[in-house]
Order: sequence, then C-alpha cells, then structure tokens
Amino acid sequence: MKLIIANWKSNKNLNEATHWLEQTTTTLAASTHQIVVAPPSPFLSLAADKFQGTKIKLAVQDISPFPAGAYTGAVGVKNLEGLKVSYAIVGHSERRRYFHENNNDVANKVRESFLGSLTPVVCVTKGTYKEQAKSIENEYRHKAIVAFEPVEHIGTGIADTLEDILETKDMVKTAFGDVRYIYGGSVDTHTDLEILTHADIDGFLVGGASLDADEFVKLVNLIS
Ligand code: PGA
Repeated sequence: MKLIIANWKSNKNLNEATHWLEQTTTTLAASTHQIVVAPPSPFLSLAADKFQGTKIKLAVQDISPFPAGAYTGAVGVKNLEGLKVSYAIVGHSERRRYFHENNNDVANKVRESFLGSLTPVVCVTKGTYKEQAKSIENEYRHKAIVAFEPVEHIGTGIADTLEDILETKDMVKTAFGDVRYIYGGSVDTHTDLEILTHADIDGFLVGGASLDADEFVKLVNLIS
C-alpha cells in the first residue's frame, strides 16, 4: 500500500473541483492505496463532505507556522479543526521559492502540524534535506513523512531516475530517522514502472498528473 498524494496546487475553481471529486471518489475509495487529496483550502470542506465514509484522506497544501491569533491570511491548524484534514504539505519548493520560506519556517510548520494532530509531509531536495532535518525538533523529526522533490524534475515531464531516488532515500533516512519516504516530481502515467512499483518507495506526491481525474485514476492503478 502506497501513500499517493494529489496536490492540485493553485488550480481549479469550485465547478472544476466538484467535477473532479464526483468523477473520482468512488474509484479512489476502492483503491488499496492510501489516497490523499490536497485541494486548495477553499475546497477542503467540499472534499471532506464527498470523502465522508471513505478511506480517502485530505491534506492542506501548506499550514501556518503560527498558532491561532492575529496572522491575517494564514490558515492554521485551529482553522482546520472539524474538517477531517489528516496531512499538511510543508516546505514545498514553490513555497520556498515564491513565498521565501526557510527551513526554520518549515520546522515551525512541522511543530504546528503535530500540535494540531496533522502529519506533516516535509518536502526536501538534496540541497535542503540536511539543514531541514536539523532544524526540526528531535521529538518530531522521525515522525514526519519526507517527500524527495528535486526541483529540476518538478513540472518538467521527466521524473528522476530510480537510482537517484533510492540513493537519496538513504541520505534522507540518515538525517531524519526511519521516516516514510515518498517521491514527487513529474510522476505520471509515463513514469518508469520500476519507479511506480518499487517496494522501497513509500508513495508519491503528484502535481500536474493529479489535475485530470482520468489521468490520476489511471496513475493510481499503475502504482503497486
Ligand atoms: P509535478 O509536481 O507532479 O507537477 O511535477 C510535483 C510536486 O511539485 O509536488
């Protein structure tokens, strides 16, 4: 059983989100994998309703590094109570690049996630994993899920090689401990089956290929 996270990023309006959920929920609910959908926050409630009674889980694409309070625009763990969100994606390279987040911000998001009973999915590259691991408190570090997300393979249509993904896994585990390790970066239906079915990769973070309902369902069916 793999963890497969559909990260829509900043895509879809209400109609499109509704349509995707209507097209996929029954099929995804029957998957043997743990499917997690990370819609933009305005659609979390809608998705929670659709997924009610299924084993599909929800993730937020980001979380505030602060507790509840005067932080205009931030979505914190308090705001998610009752929405049945299970995971928080933190430290995505797009957050680091466009919103100038650093390892310390990500470490605070990891803490907030655990305090709010969310499991953080910490996105790292070969350039960030070591310092990122160090900045996260000991009690949380080994409990996170780590997503290896090489920037040069995100949104390019070309996934990393199996060799590199596995090599990085060893380095990540040395830094973080015995975490669940997933891969993200141009995972789609054309990705090498050796990658999609490898026992040492615990799952996938899927961006572009999660946007189209049929494509995502096809991809889920290829993964084993
Ligand atoms: P991609 O995005 O699948 O579109 O490459 C992956 C990610 O950024 O998590």
